[in-house]
Amino acid sequence: MSIMRKEIFEQPEVLRKCIETNGITVTALVAALKKHDVKFISIAARGTSDHAAIFGKYVFEYLVGCPTCLAAPSIASVYGRKLDLRGTLVIGISQSGMAQDVLEYLEEGKGAGAITASITNNIDSPLAKAAEFHLFCNAGLEKSVAATKTFVTEMMLLLMTGLIWSGNTDYLKLCGTVPDLLEQSLESLEGSAKQAAEHLKNIRDCITLSRGFSYPIALESALKIQETCYVKAKGYSVSDFYHGPIAIADESLQTILIAPESKMMHDFEQVAKRLREAHAGLTIISPSESLRSYADFFFPVPKTDEITAPFVNAAAIQLLACKLADEKGINPDMPRMLKKVTITV
Ligand code: AGP
Repeated sequence: MSIMRKEIFEQPEVLRKCIETNGITVTALVAALKKHDVKFISIAARGTSDHAAIFGKYVFEYLVGCPTCLAAPSIASVYGRKLDLRGTLVIGISQSGMAQDVLEYLEEGKGAGAITASITNNIDSPLAKAAEFHLFCNAGLEKSVAATKTFVTEMMLLLMTGLIWSGNTDYLKLCGTVPDLLEQSLESLEGSAKQAAEHLKNIRDCITLSRGFSYPIALESALKIQETCYVKAKGYSVSDFYHGPIAIADESLQTILIAPESKMMHDFEQVAKRLREAHAGLTIISPSESLRSYADFFFPVPKTDEITAPFVNAAAIQLLACKLADEKGINPDMPRMLKKVTITV
């Protein structure tokens, strides 16, 4: 059994610990954001952490109404350009806490008047120590190169911050539903992931699609499939897919659509229809039976709130990548050319 699979199955317990550990710090962070009347957020991160950051963008914009951008860390680390970051919250996310360019961006923010927060899984890391507020994933050591439990804890910390900031006093209840739901569903998700992997075992490339809160899961599924299965994969928002890439759709194209029940349902149905008409391969990950007839493989997931759906979808695509690697005879824990910590400057 792979370490990746074991770490995916640790998610319910790890998420519970993460929620318990961070209530006080998140509350203090939100108090500081209100006191300083923060009106803008800039998040710096790489790889899987960058996908958690995109989830954070949806959380802060939808729940709080606070415009949130993804930083270009090289503006600080390579170009050395000073930014005016007064009235901004700068968040640096790095599972290892070792991301050098993320650290430089956060330090630049501190010097330029921003409030700073970091999210890491290592309390002794440079990024954890550099920020005024450190939110701790508390996911335990992650050994597989493929990040799984650290990704979902990063998302959870962003969701907790957004919910508390928005004045949602019942935040623990909503967050607490996530580990419970995962606990109930991981085994059946694994069964479906295995069948999906058997169906997809010969693919060499694919497009992954979603939109809204689950858009970062489309990006993350492409990354996971690339690194664990050596499949050329690219993730798109359904809306971006229409602006050019859809032209590649024909019978040789494989696609995976992540379609939670949400405000985006109409879009998911439309793109599924068009992919079907183009005779593209289409695996659909969704709780919605109404989409089943468009798919050549349907991967059912439990129905959830739109905001918590990314946690279920993350587990589904992580298990799919893990099982697809098994089908292809690849060890997902040790991808070629990769180490656990990648440092960019
Ligand atoms: C995850 O599966 C990837 N191997 C990669 O994106 C990884 O999460 C990232 O390199 C970790 O960097 P960080 O410690 O700065 O978050």
